[in-house]
Amino acid sequence: MREERSPIADRTDTAPSHRASTDPGSEVGARQMAGFKDFYQSANATRVIAGRDLLGSTGFEMTKEGAHRVWVVTDETIRGTGLVDRVIAGVEDGGLEVAGVFDDVPQDSSTDVCDRCAEEARAAGADSWLAVGGGSVMDTAKIADALFTHGGTAAESEGFFLMPREDDGQGAPLPMAPLVCIPTTCGTGSEVSMGAVVKDNQRKVKLEIADFPLFPRVAILDPESTKTLPPHIAASTGMDAMTHAIEGYVSVDWNPHQDGRSLVALRLIRDNLERAVADPTDEEARGNMLVAASLAITLGLGSTHSMSHPCGAHYGVPHGVANAINMPHVIRFNAEGGADIADRYRDLNEIFDLDTGGSPAEVGEALASHVTGMIERMGLPTRLSQVGVPEEGIPVLVEGAMGDGLTLMNPREPTEEDYEELYRSAL
Ligand SMILES: [Fe+2]
Repeated sequence: MREERSPIADRTDTAPSHRASTDPGSEVGARQMAGFKDFYQSANATRVIAGRDLLGSTGFEMTKEGAHRVWVVTDETIRGTGLVDRVIAGVEDGGLEVAGVFDDVPQDSSTDVCDRCAEEARAAGADSWLAVGGGSVMDTAKIADALFTHGGTAAESEGFFLMPREDDGQGAPLPMAPLVCIPTTCGTGSEVSMGAVVKDNQRKVKLEIADFPLFPRVAILDPESTKTLPPHIAASTGMDAMTHAIEGYVSVDWNPHQDGRSLVALRLIRDNLERAVADPTDEEARGNMLVAASLAITLGLGSTHSMSHPCGAHYGVPHGVANAINMPHVIRFNAEGGADIADRYRDLNEIFDLDTGGSPAEVGEALASHVTGMIERMGLPTRLSQVGVPEEGIPVLVEGAMGDGLTLMNPREPTEEDYEELYRSAL
């Protein structure tokens, strides 16, 4: 029997050997950036519905998932735009009841919010979940749905592939109440992912949870739901999607299934992100960015995310902004980590019509500068010091990045000193 492998947790088994060699294939578990891999797993269990004028049929789609009494999770800002009312009308139009609306999800949600949301859903007698919002709302709904179904607290649920299963943990994962997601930003990809990240305010860390039951049942991608997205949020969440596509492609957890998704996502991001930010009425650009974000998402990421998580946990830097700032520095660092890594960046440079034939350092520099150019054109900050990160915060950020599971997925292993230098260069 093959044991379930976590894309992150089990890396501890293979990390020493794959770190030890830059010669692909020289030993089992070695870093392998091309060829046929010894092992990978690809799962995309969410039914995706994309197109125009879909919100009115939310109830119809939820009926197909066995929903009767729907618990709606959102935030006050989105509720204030009237979008939630339009979605609720679509739910009721399908003959379903709304058990209640939880609009108390903060911009950067936490384990406490998940616990409270689950409790209120239970008290309201809900049997199904509908998340209308960005990453924070959707991740809250995913974790709260798990607590609603299985009990326990969010803090106890941390980990990969640790959700309750039949046969003393060896059998099929126990099913969860159906969850439908309607993303209102184009970046997180949470609507099609089995991962969720929220803050643990007590421990000051980002708590990461992933398991198959967390795949939402349905994701509805309709540009109508991103109509009121402010341009700076469209820019930062779009950069999160771009980070997923780029980090996913150069992670040690890369795989051909994800490669296809990353490369198509990057083409869509290349053609639509700046368009969507410059003209919020451009429905086609917004629709394509929703599709790009849902293609780009992967759990196999790297050091950009490892650096950005503590920036959020300690200094409240929005996730997409932190990624946008940190990514160029990580690209430069990684590209010099070996010819096999640089080759992966060459593929990405081709998409952006950048230099593909130079030295590893030149290849990394070309992509890093291109990313910085995009960030500047969209008016996002380019330095951590511009978003409230002080120089004296670096040690605690380094500690957080070293402890983040995604560091093990980065193609070049960073030391503490490397992270310190990366943070200094991003400051
Ligand atoms: Fe992300």
